[in-house]
Amino acid sequence: MIGKDLERAAALLRAGKIVAIPTETVYGLGGNALDPGAVAEIFAVKQRPSFDPLIVHLGDPAEISHYAADFPASLQDLAAAFMPGPLTILLPKKNVIPDLVTAGSSRVALRVPGHPLTSQLLGMLDFPLAAPSANPFGYISPTRAAHVAQQLGERIPYILDGGPCQVGLESTIVGLEGGEITVFRKGGVSIEQIEAVVGAVQVKAHSSSNPQAPGMLKSHYAPRIPLVLGRVEDYLEKYGVDRLGSITFQHRIDQIPEAHQVCLSPAGDYKEAAQNLFAGMRRLDSLDLDLIVAELLPEKDLGRAINDRLRRAAA
Ligand code: TXA
Ligand code: MG
Repeated sequence: MIGKDLERAAALLRAGKIVAIPTETVYGLGGNALDPGAVAEIFAVKQRPSFDPLIVHLGDPAEISHYAADFPASLQDLAAAFMPGPLTILLPKKNVIPDLVTAGSSRVALRVPGHPLTSQLLGMLDFPLAAPSANPFGYISPTRAAHVAQQLGERIPYILDGGPCQVGLESTIVGLEGGEITVFRKGGVSIEQIEAVVGAVQVKAHSSSNPQAPGMLKSHYAPRIPLVLGRVEDYLEKYGVDRLGSITFQHRIDQIPEAHQVCLSPAGDYKEAAQNLFAGMRRLDSLDLDLIVAELLPEKDLGRAINDRLRRAAA
């Protein structure tokens, strides 16, 4: 069931149940982070391998000290700049966080979402919420309540509807590695924004060989229809104009039907492009097509995180 009833969502969560929650990035599949039973249910509903840890969502940055054993000053500066917001910080965990949440890692991923409904909900609860994106493992993340309902509606008792997600890409994950601030997953806070606060940072490329590292599984965010990176024009002859879908940044492809195209932002606005990415991928994936061809954006601003998602959708 979909609705805006905070009391109902809170009651279900207090009873150890799973509720889909809106955030500014993507919808999450939330449960009591301190209750291993609720956390196990999240893994089961999402069909997520237990080696892939969950982000813990807090109502207020002041709560970070309840769950993190240490909070280095450089990361505190990022928290001050971007929380609440699309930033997740990896910190050494306190024992109160169950090992199941962190997949056995000594670090916990903490985030303070910036969506008013979920902020209110977290304020009503006396525990934080573990929440992965509310999609079946490996599929495109949901940016509308209806996306969650389509795939997981039967498996969860309630979806809290907070409207379309304003950022549209998952949070940026940062932590320390070798004493340096490191971005482990590109996301809703751009590298440029982070570097404006703390100076140059390392950006970790993802690999499929080390699933303990965050957001790093290579094939992810993937539609059902095969997706390749490139120029639509190069595939027209082989596939035929009616069998192709396209994802472009600003321009339209004259040769293929309008309904088979996703133009992320005709005005060339990265924020708008990020908002439209996952919903556009889902729309194309619902059509009868043989191939989706996606064009990469310039490697700047949120274009870098969008390209990261497109590359993984193509992997
Ligand atoms: O924007 C977001 O971050 C969304 C919303 C719902 O908050 N959540 C999200 O969760 O994207 P999920 O589970 O789809 O992706 C979280 C990523 C995973 O790749 C996981 O490996 C990494 O964060 N992660 C979580 N906890 C970690 C930890 N303790 N150490 C390393 N990586 C961690
Ligand atoms: Mg996810």
